[in-house]
Amino acid sequence: MDTTLNAWDVSRYGGPDVLTPVTRPVPTPSAAQVLVRVRASAVSRADGMMRAGQPKFVRLFLGLKRPRAGLAGTCFSGDVVAVGDKVTKFRIGDAVFGEAGLQFGANATHISVDEDGSLLTKPTTVSYEEAATLFDGAMTSWHFLTRVAQVQPGENVLILGGSGSLGTAAVQFAKALGAKVTASASARNTEMLRSLGVDHVVDYNAEDPLKRGAAYDVVFDTLGVASFGAAKPALAENGRYVCPVLGLALLRDMILTGVIGGRKARFAAAGMLKPEMHREELSEVLALMAENKFSPVMDRTYPLSDLVEAHAYVETGRKRGNVVVV
Ligand SMILES: NC(=O)c1ccc[n+]([C@@H]2O[C@H](COP(=O)([O-])OP(=O)(O)OC[C@H]3O[C@@H](n4cnc5c(N)ncnc54)[C@H](OP(=O)(O)O)[C@@H]3O)[C@@H](O)[C@H]2O)c1
Repeated sequence: MDTTLNAWDVSRYGGPDVLTPVTRPVPTPSAAQVLVRVRASAVSRADGMMRAGQPKFVRLFLGLKRPRAGLAGTCFSGDVVAVGDKVTKFRIGDAVFGEAGLQFGANATHISVDEDGSLLTKPTTVSYEEAATLFDGAMTSWHFLTRVAQVQPGENVLILGGSGSLGTAAVQFAKALGAKVTASASARNTEMLRSLGVDHVVDYNAEDPLKRGAAYDVVFDTLGVASFGAAKPALAENGRYVCPVLGLALLRDMILTGVIGGRKARFAAAGMLKPEMHREELSEVLALMAENKFSPVMDRTYPLSDLVEAHAYVETGRKRGNVVVV
């Protein structure tokens, strides 16, 4: 049994170079916790945002002067290596994946988490690398399409930013939900999106995807590259503009469209949902994976010791799908 763990410290907000490797004693799980030997953990845009403390309002949740948790990483997969004496759902040897939430510390060799938290059994058909990404792009896009936008079969759906972590999941989910799917991407990612089943790919450098004369029932702006105002003329009556990137304009549009107008603007913070919602929604995602209707798109895999490089790559804004460290 290992006695020390490797993790990454974030003791101040800033660029990737604020990340510092640390070693600590492996914790003994408390009565209702499991200790996981981490096999893979995600490096997401949200992780970068939290490391940077940007936009500044996130510091209200993470710590005003410095990151309160002091460790990096939110989404992980691995094997249970110890359990507390009240744990009933998991056993030593189980393969699991989960989200550490505001506890952080997933970019590490070990993590202790509550058995009743955002933790699920990893199917053998899903790799550790894939499983580590599911709480980011997959869960967020599934939540936005099924719970926030409530996509119906036959609807016209536009995914803005089809090649990112959220986008590559969203296009597959929208197809699985029976929608007609248009997605925006640059020319280098057009073929990938076609291979994921997208009906129309729009090169955003050549054409404004919101000015094609189409009436979309749902516009999912995965990157916050547009706005409700810009999307409104392209929305069908009762169309929904949904976006996971919160800004003041979106907040205002949510409040206004909550009381007037058929076309709606909506935001949600999928990471802040209750663990039982996480487990329910990810069970639905796993069912789609078992039916071969969804597979996470994997970009680069770095060793855990190269977390700084992984963050720098994610920060370019050019990744395709997901990045993990192992
Ligand atoms: N609210 C929530 O619960 C929640 C949860 C998770 C994440 N998020 C947020 O969701 C956002 C998206 O994250 P992500 O991981 O999906 O992003 P990402 O993977 O970093 O997105 C990168 C991709 O976007 C493409 N892209 C860049 N500019 C574009 C444009 N103008 N139009 C279309 N595509 C463009 C890039 O392709 P090219 O290089 O070819 O352009 C690249 O493939 C982040 O802001 C993240 O913080 C929110």
